[in-house]
Amino acid sequence: MSPTSFRLFPEQASTLASSVDNLYFFLVAVTAFFSLLIFGLIFVFAIRHRRRSAADRPAAVHGGLALEVVWTVIPLGLVMVMFAWGASVYLEGARPPGDALQVYVVGKQWMWKLQHMEGQREINELHVPVGRAVRLTMTSEDVIHSFYVPAFRMKYDVLPGRYTTAWFKPTKTGKYHLFCAEYCGTKHSGMTGWVHVMEPADYASWLGGGSAEGSLASNGEKLFQELACSNCHRLNEQGRCPNLTNVFGSSVTLADGSTVKADEAYLRESILYPQAKVVAGFQPIMPTFQGLVTEEGLLQLIEYVKSLKQPGPGAPTAAQPAQPAGARPASANKEPRRR
Ligand code: CUA
Repeated sequence: MSPTSFRLFPEQASTLASSVDNLYFFLVAVTAFFSLLIFGLIFVFAIRHRRRSAADRPAAVHGGLALEVVWTVIPLGLVMVMFAWGASVYLEGARPPGDALQVYVVGKQWMWKLQHMEGQREINELHVPVGRAVRLTMTSEDVIHSFYVPAFRMKYDVLPGRYTTAWFKPTKTGKYHLFCAEYCGTKHSGMTGWVHVMEPADYASWLGGGSAEGSLASNGEKLFQELACSNCHRLNEQGRCPNLTNVFGSSVTLADGSTVKADEAYLRESILYPQAKVVAGFQPIMPTFQGLVTEEGLLQLIEYVKSLKQPGPGAPTAAQPAQPAGARPASANKEPRRR
């Protein structure tokens, strides 16, 4: 495709593209049909029932049950089709397959920062293999942005303080435009980039190319040591803070008795606002790490916590309150409690 050639529609380069387009064409066809019908009838009736003389005024008609039923039931059927079809396309786009490749995205005025699990970092460029689903976990450092790849028919808001996920499965190799689709300041229009869809072999050699920094999880581990998280979060024993092994994905019981699923958002919140959701059986002693870790650093830490998995039943998790809420775990530090 030459960039100068005029296109009414962007290229279809993901599995979702044709589903989105088919729905869109259906909506356009229905809209066009009814627009023509209504305007046609307006003209026909305007001519047929124009006033010729005051004498030949037609008799007024009241009621018409059959007509009313017809023009209620047909549109109802049509909008229900739109609803069901639209919902199924939406759900298809909202549910990444389990085997998807994970990529982290951080939006920032005015650039896209991307991190691969293997450690590669990119700015305004994303390299992915063809035929493989890619799941994006996205957040913003400042304001709302929106990750938009027209050829994939994928557009998803990127919000500060929250993780949103989106996914796509590219069907064709090539280079596809990436835009920011949410006005985010002076250089919003310049917040663009490219998604490079490569043959799997090319992608593998690209991955092998330059990751001097190590994987995301190993960078997270370094950060975990640097920030001294490991002083309290022991991995082989119960420290003063919950053991993080097997925490990710588990259901955690909090001090107030409620439970919460340990997903990315929960881990992020627990690092930045440790007092927000204190695990049952532990004291709220953790300081905040707000301002000490970048959004990218947070993603690395989360990836590290995700990697802390121990197989086998009965592996210790923070999800199991060792003691009633408020009490200290037996292995907590032995200083006398002062009030
Ligand atoms: Cu970022 Cu517009």
